[in-house]
Amino acid sequence: MKSLDPYLIRKDFPILERKIGNLPLVYLDNAASSLKPIQVIDAVCRFYREHYSNVFRGVHELSREATEMYEEAREKVRKFIGARNASEVIFTYNATDSLNMVAFGWGFSNVEEGDRIVVTIMEHHSNLLPWRKLSEVRRAELSYIDIDDEGILKYDTLSEIIDEKTRIVTVTHMSNVLGTINRLEDIVKRAHEVNAIVVVDGAQSVPHMKVDVKELDIDFLAFSGHKMLAPTGIGVLWGKLDLLEEMEPYRLGGGAVKRMEYNSAVFREPPLKFEAGTPNIAGAIGLGAAIEYLTHIGMDNVREHEERLVEHTLKLFEEELVNNIELYGPKDPKVRGGIISFNLKDYSCHSVGVMLDLRGIAVRTGLHCANPLHRRLGVNGTVRASYYIYNTVEEIEYLVSCLKEFTKKRSATI
Ligand code: ALA
Repeated sequence: MKSLDPYLIRKDFPILERKIGNLPLVYLDNAASSLKPIQVIDAVCRFYREHYSNVFRGVHELSREATEMYEEAREKVRKFIGARNASEVIFTYNATDSLNMVAFGWGFSNVEEGDRIVVTIMEHHSNLLPWRKLSEVRRAELSYIDIDDEGILKYDTLSEIIDEKTRIVTVTHMSNVLGTINRLEDIVKRAHEVNAIVVVDGAQSVPHMKVDVKELDIDFLAFSGHKMLAPTGIGVLWGKLDLLEEMEPYRLGGGAVKRMEYNSAVFREPPLKFEAGTPNIAGAIGLGAAIEYLTHIGMDNVREHEERLVEHTLKLFEEELVNNIELYGPKDPKVRGGIISFNLKDYSCHSVGVMLDLRGIAVRTGLHCANPLHRRLGVNGTVRASYYIYNTVEEIEYLVSCLKEFTKKRSATI
């Protein structure tokens, strides 16, 4: 595709025909979960209708077909993120599951008392709680990289915080609240200087921009399928092969071992040693279809489209809402993904969410599973509008006109 046409794309999303009350749905909650195109829905249905069986566990035709489709999906993921080897792609349940897998797999064997784990203040709880647990159990120190007033990491503190004791630096590629796109290259450079590994939470970046694990030279990448057009319950953990080979599986069970005796077990090679139990086969196949869909559009086009929407939103906020809105995160659309968090003067974030819902607009309100970040920002919650390939300039203009209407109403009643 030369450039992205959201009006054409919208035709692939049956749910966009829905009405909320009698109003058209304006879906701006994509950072929580994306809508699904017919191509993904059909791929999942086709699998259940025509090919369904378990994988790796049968010699029969259907099992062979299912296994082949599951492995094809893995290969699509490999190519999408620029990984060297499909063995580096582990299917998990979501980004949270992937991050837990690294913390309790790699972390438990490699972090010792007195070591340091570095996170950032803008992390989602999924990229905080597993590391907090690991640091408690191992008596390691958990250190935070702070942000400046625009929600950009304080890169000048990296060399002090990522010190010789650091074993793991774990960071979101794109903040789910501020939209900030973090400069991974600076973080990777410093972390590797002190022999620490870099774990990246790609839940918000992988669906929205080109992410190439080789170019970034990171060590682990976690992301979810449901935020990138695929079904829920499927996610990915990518890791460098040598790290995966030494990493302990934290989910144990059928399919993960080569041999099992009464008192010993020999695990399979990655990725299967990490995929114990019957996996989400249909989810993986749906993720493969979603990747095909996004690849056809082109990830650079996806990013460009969202950058334009962000630019337009920020301009309208400034022109139309002036002093009635508090915006969080970078003002430069080049370093910001399609995520706009804000508060409207004299309203709680939840009342804004409810009023927008009455106008057919879906946003998320509250703390967005990022309580430490909100504490740092000094607010009890934010309204978050988040964009994707099917959102249009008209929808953003509608959002801003609704916000403007609320501010007028408020000043009329005060
Ligand atoms: N992590 C998702 C969000 O930010 C659910 O909304």
